Amino acid sequence: MNTNDQIRRHHHITLNVGGAQEDYDFHTKVLGLKSVKKTALYDGDEPIHHLYYGNDLGDASTLITCFPMRQSGRKARPGSGQISTLMLSVPESSLGFWEQHLTAHGYKPKRGERFGEKSLSFAHPSGIGYQLVGIADDDRKPYSNGVIPSEYGICGTHGITGALRDGENSEEFMHYGWNGQNRRADGRLIRFEVGKGGSGTIVDFDVEPDLPQGSWAYGEGVVHHCAFEVDDLTVQKWVKFHLEGLGFTDVSDVKDRGYFDSVYVRTPGGALFEACVSKPQGFLVDEPYEDLGKAFQVPPVFADRKTEILNYLEPIVF
Ligand SMILES: [Fe+2]
Repeated sequence: MNTNDQIRRHHHITLNVGGAQEDYDFHTKVLGLKSVKKTALYDGDEPIHHLYYGNDLGDASTLITCFPMRQSGRKARPGSGQISTLMLSVPESSLGFWEQHLTAHGYKPKRGERFGEKSLSFAHPSGIGYQLVGIADDDRKPYSNGVIPSEYGICGTHGITGALRDGENSEEFMHYGWNGQNRRADGRLIRFEVGKGGSGTIVDFDVEPDLPQGSWAYGEGVVHHCAFEVDDLTVQKWVKFHLEGLGFTDVSDVKDRGYFDSVYVRTPGGALFEACVSKPQGFLVDEPYEDLGKAFQVPPVFADRKTEILNYLEPIVF
């Protein structure tokens, strides 16, 4: 069976969260990330905010994107068959600072260790699990607006944890379909890295046979998907055909997301993955660098409903 070596690293991780203001304050004022885009979910006929956070330009593997679902009233059910936690890379020397900082903001960070990496675990206000993982040699430059000292800032994604009831099919998917390498196991945990490996490429699976199935629909309190970077649209098309040839046929067509092009695949364990290609102008396609992430950008699909949408969506004060 052929393998696929085209999955490079994480591109973005997308969450279904609660209130828009609550999410905005958590990511920009507690974690110190930059708002790089405020727009709306492109799918469906109901307007839902889509908020993007990352480093200065919103580079691939620094992005967390959020759908605040509270306005819709829909709640999700955490469980198996979905991504359960996201891990973010911070300098190893910063964990003491972060422990104090999170505690001062009312969070309850817990120290832990996984595969020899020290971490702090806590929860997003919507309940989604976060970990800050201390990494000594991450060369991605953190954004700093003064909330977090620049030497302690978040460098980008580190990994995701997928909750599974059975690991075998997901291991097959990772190995043949998703460039999963350097397989390691520790108790219930199985770790893969894609591309060159290291921080920003990690997929962990937590195999828990008795965990009930979580929900897949848009609803407050769960991770929606993890996107991974591929080089270009030709490679993206090849990845889709490759997955379909392996029998993983729940693969979407290419979707234009304004700032990147996306292909989604429902992995055999249930978590939703995406193969993603950034557009050449990235987040600068609809607003200049100086104003990045400040004003709401109406998706083309909703262009004729701009006033209605702006009146409906929860206003965000920043
Ligand atoms: Fe995505």
